[in-house]
Parts: sequence; structure tokens; C-alpha cells
Amino acid sequence: MTQGFEDRIRNVALRSRVMTAAEAAELIKDGMVVGMSGFTRSGEAKAVPLALAERARTTPIKITLMTGASLGNDLDKILAEAHVTARRIPFQSDPGLRRMINAGEVMFIDQHLSETVEQLRTQQLPLPDVAVIEAIAITEDGGIIPSTSVGNSASFALLAKKVIIEININQPLGLEGLHDIYIPTYRPNRMPIPIVTPESRVGLPHIPLPPERIAAIVVTEKVDSTATINPPDAETRAIAGHLIGFFEREVTRGHLDHRLAPLQAGIGTVANAVLHGLIDSPFHDLKMYSEVLQDSTFDLMDAGKMTFASGSSITLSAAKYVDVLSRLETFRPRLILRPQEISNHPEVVRRLGLIAINTALEFDIYGNVNSTHIAGTNMMNGIGGSGDFARNAYLSVFVTKSTAKGGVISSVVPMVSHVDHTEHDVDVLVTETGIADLRGLAPRERAPLIIRNCVHPAYRDALMDYFTRAKARGGHTPHVLEEALSWHIRLCDTGRMS
Ligand code: COA
Repeated sequence: MTQGFEDRIRNVALRSRVMTAAEAAELIKDGMVVGMSGFTRSGEAKAVPLALAERARTTPIKITLMTGASLGNDLDKILAEAHVTARRIPFQSDPGLRRMINAGEVMFIDQHLSETVEQLRTQQLPLPDVAVIEAIAITEDGGIIPSTSVGNSASFALLAKKVIIEININQPLGLEGLHDIYIPTYRPNRMPIPIVTPESRVGLPHIPLPPERIAAIVVTEKVDSTATINPPDAETRAIAGHLIGFFEREVTRGHLDHRLAPLQAGIGTVANAVLHGLIDSPFHDLKMYSEVLQDSTFDLMDAGKMTFASGSSITLSAAKYVDVLSRLETFRPRLILRPQEISNHPEVVRRLGLIAINTALEFDIYGNVNSTHIAGTNMMNGIGGSGDFARNAYLSVFVTKSTAKGGVISSVVPMVSHVDHTEHDVDVLVTETGIADLRGLAPRERAPLIIRNCVHPAYRDALMDYFTRAKARGGHTPHVLEEALSWHIRLCDTGRMS
């Protein structure tokens, strides 16, 4: 067994509960609901899921797997391909699991990330039988100190019948003190969440768990997977440039000052590149109140542009991971990791007045956004936190490149094939070709602006022609219904939209 863990289990009596991953995994039985730590490929339980997959080779077992968000170290793929994952809640981003979801072999419940534990608490979802949580240490009184993410770990641990802790001796102890664990009080007497700035600390630095609830402790060494985020390219730089120009105009108009408003940025290459663009901008003293803290957060801090960041996880590229984890002393006073229901909470998002920047797969000429479904049918990742933020932000921005797959797909279409964010929750759209500020505009005013500014030249005339013919038919939001999804149908039939 891995050595050097004793100091991390500060409650001496709990040391007797250390066992192998295979022994701990025996606590998980066929048909159980299991809540595991892990959020955007960081801080996931790493050994018990592998032991489960191993056991499934000889003894089939199926579970409902709940997490914070996506799992790293290929665990979603491994569990799905071992046929352990029967149901998956609330987010994933693994190509292997995605394939099985789209084949109908795994039932995926795609949820707003702030809502899962609300539904658990009120038992609208079945409570976890077992929680498996990665931690850097356990305190004298049994408190669990999470690692690089908090996600849903606190509520899973508090609500599960049994708790397994994975003590990861390669997650640095310097993470201690970063977390702020706050659980909302129960309805009908719920109190306001007392967060009034991104820096507000309102909870405990650990998950308060009576030691007797810890059924097993497993010692692990595997590190988090690193993010595979492409560096900014000409198009993402152009998107960032349009958005920064827009922010400058908002400052000139007196809507914002050079500190902007607390920023939220979605996952993925495009959102990361947009934040990167702020490094060479006139803005300063920026703050984040977001869900995932990516490379760009730390680059903005190092550039002296960002003073504080609150999130639910830290997900970094390989080089940045080593750099940031070796400088935690520097970053700790400027960082907080919260449960995802708090990082994404509509009440707090509305109170703080965020600028939310999320990514669309496609949007339509009226501003409805699809972030999840390819051609309306195949799941990509899930809505994640984008809806939590977009609905409640001060300013809700969606970004995407104007085309996908080498230009054969237009990201702007007559009608989206699936709606994640309705036109009512979308203020600003940006592609590399330009920006459309939709605020205060009716659908008939939005369409020409979006088509002129955001559509790739190869598709602009066709979309304008569609809108012109739709307008002739009348309506508040004009459509040629029999053609509205024809671009997607053509894509399915011929492999291209044009
Ligand atoms: N049709 C088909 N495929 C499309 C597409 C479209 N309209 N638009 C993009 N894609 C494909 C890209 O080609 C790329 O495919 P690849 O992985 O095979 O190269 C993939 O989707 C990702 O697109 P990319 O342009 O690299 O963007 P990204 O990495 O920024 O991811 C989303 C974009 C929408 C998939 C991602 O942001 C997401 O899952 N968002 C939903 C959840 C969310 O917003 N969470 C944040 C809240 S904090």
C-alpha cells in the first residue's frame, strides 16, 4: 500500500479504516446510486472507480453515477465501456461515454449544474448510497479537505449512506484553505446566501462530516488529467478582439468601468481564448465568479490584470498545472473553490451582476442558442453551468466560430436544432466575423444584425434570403417552417450545410 499518508489522516482512529480500492469498492452494490467527486476533469475519485470497472470484468455491476461534472483519467470511458455506468448525471465530456449515450446504452440526465444537489436534498432524485470523494486530508474531527475541485462533493458526502474517502498523496497540501464549503439552509426557511462579492468567504474550509460516516479510506497517487485546450488561433483572437471592443464601448457609454463586472467564462477552447485576450486590454482589477478556473485565470493574475477568482474547480493544461500547483502560496489569498451549487447559484449570479461568456455550438438568426446537441440529436457534453449563468447574468454573451468542421457547417442557422438558451437569455453574440448586441431589439431587428455581423460570408446570402422570405410570411418571429431545419437535414444527408 502507498506510504506517507498518515499525516494526512489527522483523526488517528480513522487510520484503521484504510483499505485497498478493491475492498472499498465492495461497499458499492449492483443498482446503487453513487456520488463521486470530480468536476471538469479535476479532483475526481481515481482508484475506486477503476476497482469497480475491474470487478465488472467478472461480476457485472450497474450503477447510477452522479458527479460534479466531467471526470478525468478516462474514468467516464472506462466505467461506461465496462458497462458499470447505467445512468449518468449531470455532465460529461468523454468521447467514449458520449458514443454510448448517443447509442442509447447509457441514460444521461443533462442538468443545470447548480440543480443536482437541490434535487437530491428534496429527494426528487434518489440519494446516493455511497459517496466517493477525493481529499488531500481528513481533519482531527473528520472534516474532509477536498482537492482541486469541490463540485457536488460536500452534499454527496453529507447525504450518502456511506462515504469512501480517497486520500491523494500527490495532491498538494497547499490546497488547504482554498475551499469554502457552504450548504444552503433548508426550505421553507432558507436564508439568503451571504455572498456579496467574489471574495466573500461564508462557509468552512472543509466538508464537516462526523468521522463515523467514513466507511473506508483509500490512499491514491494518480494526478489529475490535464486539459487539452487548443491555444488561441486567429479566429478566437478575433472573437476576443470584438468582445473587448464591445466592453470598451460599454465603458464609454458609462455602463461599466475598466474593472468590468465579475467574469464567468465557460469551458473549452473558445472561452479560454477570449479570456486570454483580456491580457492585452485596457481592463484591470478584474475578478472572476465562475465555475472552472482555466489557464487564462492564472495568466490574467500573473499579468497583474486579475485580482481574485472564485470557482468550483481548477482545470489546467500540463505546463500550467505544474506551475500553478507549485505556486499555491502566491495564489491562495486570491482564490476560492466553492460547491458548484454556490459557484453557479442563480441568487448569487444575479446579485453580483456577472458578465457571463459561454460557448454555442450554433445559434439562430433570432438569438436562440444550442450548446449541446449536434444536429438536434447527438449529445456533445451537456449544458453544464452555462444556463445557470446565462439566465441570471448582468450580461449574457455567447461566442463561437462562425463555421465548424472546416467550413462545411455554419454555426448560424435559420432555426437551432435544439435550444439550451432561449433568445430571452442571450444579450450578445460574437463570432470571428463580428458582434451582435441584441439588447432591446425585437426578433425582426435581431435577424439582419446577426446575419450581417456574425455569419460567415459563405452562408450570409443564403441566410438573408431565408429571412427575407420568412418576413414575407409574417409573424413576430418569422420562419419558413418547412425550411427551418433544412440546413441540418442537408448536413445529415450530404455531410455539408451548403
Ligand atoms: N456542429 C457540429 N459540430 C460542431 C459545431 C456545430 N455547429 N460547432 C462546433 N462543433 C464541434 C467542433 O468541430 C469541435 O469538434 P472536435 O472536438 O471534433 O474538434 C467541437 O465541437 C468543440 O468545438 P470547439 O470549437 O473546439 O469549441 P469548444 O472546445 O470551446 O467547445 C462546446 C464548445 C459548446 C462544445 C463547449 O463549450 C460546451 O460543451 N459547452 C456547453 C457547456 C458549457 O457551456 N459549460 C460552461 C459553463 S461554465
